[in-house]
Amino acid sequence: MPKSKIKGVGFYVPDNVIKNSDLEEIMDTSDEWIQERTGIKERRWVEGDLTTSLMGTYASKIAIKNAKISKNDIDFIIFATLSPDYFFPGSGVLLQKNLQIKEVGALDIRNQCSGFIYGLSVADQYIKSGMYENILVVGSEIHSGGLDKSSRGRSVSVIFGDGAGAAIVSKSNDESEILSTHLHSEGKFADELAVIKPATTFWIDKIIDDDEEDGKGFFPKMNGNFVFKNAIKRFEEVIFESLNHNNYTSKDIDMLITHQANLRISQYIQKKLNIDDNNIFNNIMSYGNTTAASIPIALYEALEKNKIKRGDLVCLAAFGSGFTWASALIRW
Ligand code: COA
Repeated sequence: MPKSKIKGVGFYVPDNVIKNSDLEEIMDTSDEWIQERTGIKERRWVEGDLTTSLMGTYASKIAIKNAKISKNDIDFIIFATLSPDYFFPGSGVLLQKNLQIKEVGALDIRNQCSGFIYGLSVADQYIKSGMYENILVVGSEIHSGGLDKSSRGRSVSVIFGDGAGAAIVSKSNDESEILSTHLHSEGKFADELAVIKPATTFWIDKIIDDDEEDGKGFFPKMNGNFVFKNAIKRFEEVIFESLNHNNYTSKDIDMLITHQANLRISQYIQKKLNIDDNNIFNNIMSYGNTTAASIPIALYEALEKNKIKRGDLVCLAAFGSGFTWASALIRW
């Protein structure tokens, strides 16, 4: 059976840096509160006419270059985002247009913070089945346009940042391989972290009459404490699921990259798994939570800083809205 590997990674973040002190000026918050509760020092928010698909395009160009393939070698596109350019069509086809890729299939994934690992899993299965050889997997998000930037939205809006990451997943002819992926969801908690409008249940004509006045439903709603508790439980479970599946223990992990939701969550997992500082990579301090983009952005930076080398055991794990959670174990 063919096996797959990550052949190249790329990322892009907007130039516009928003420091915690910038947020102090627009809402009732403080640098101290944000750093203490989340670890975040700054994040990027788009300016001008940058779009989710465009940022994904920039990240993809770097991934294609690093994978040493041509865009014409790409057999399939997978685009994970919760903040697409349009309500429809999806951002995958827009990226295809931007990159001028031939008429291959383009699939959008709506799995929020777990979106990139879900995409990786789909790509892995297509390659293992022999259907495709090179798949572009993208995670890209623009949160800044959809946040409640008043004090009312402070518990959510200080957390999220904009950015994109991309990976080329290819058929592997060497020792590198995606060993396994593990996907989960629990829809009964869908409303605990959600943006519910506009949608077919709150269609545009109803919205205009209903609750236009306070934007209720349009901004992210998050039961932060509940999300936190579920996140630490599910992260641990799904990481162990990947290790057990492959007969490894947490001591075997050379690099753990968790979705960058909150530094406290990552630190909790690190402690639970007894992982050394050298074997985990966090960059939420600089970018905030970029949902589907956070893992490929962190992966890119970890590679750039030579923290991952050939043959390393790399574990990726994510948890987020849905709830959905997932992991991938990779022999790099
Ligand atoms: N600045 C200052 N104060 C703030 C604030 C902000 N940005 N946001 C909330 N507060 C206040 C609250 O009003 C509350 O005040 P009170 O005690 O007077 O009522 C206090 O801080 C504590 O709020 P709470 O929501 O209990 O804080 P917390 O310790 O749970 O931290 C989160 C909040 C959001 C950082 C935390 O719950 C979290 O990270 N949850 C998980 C989020 C996540 O991972 N989401 C993405 C999933 S992928």
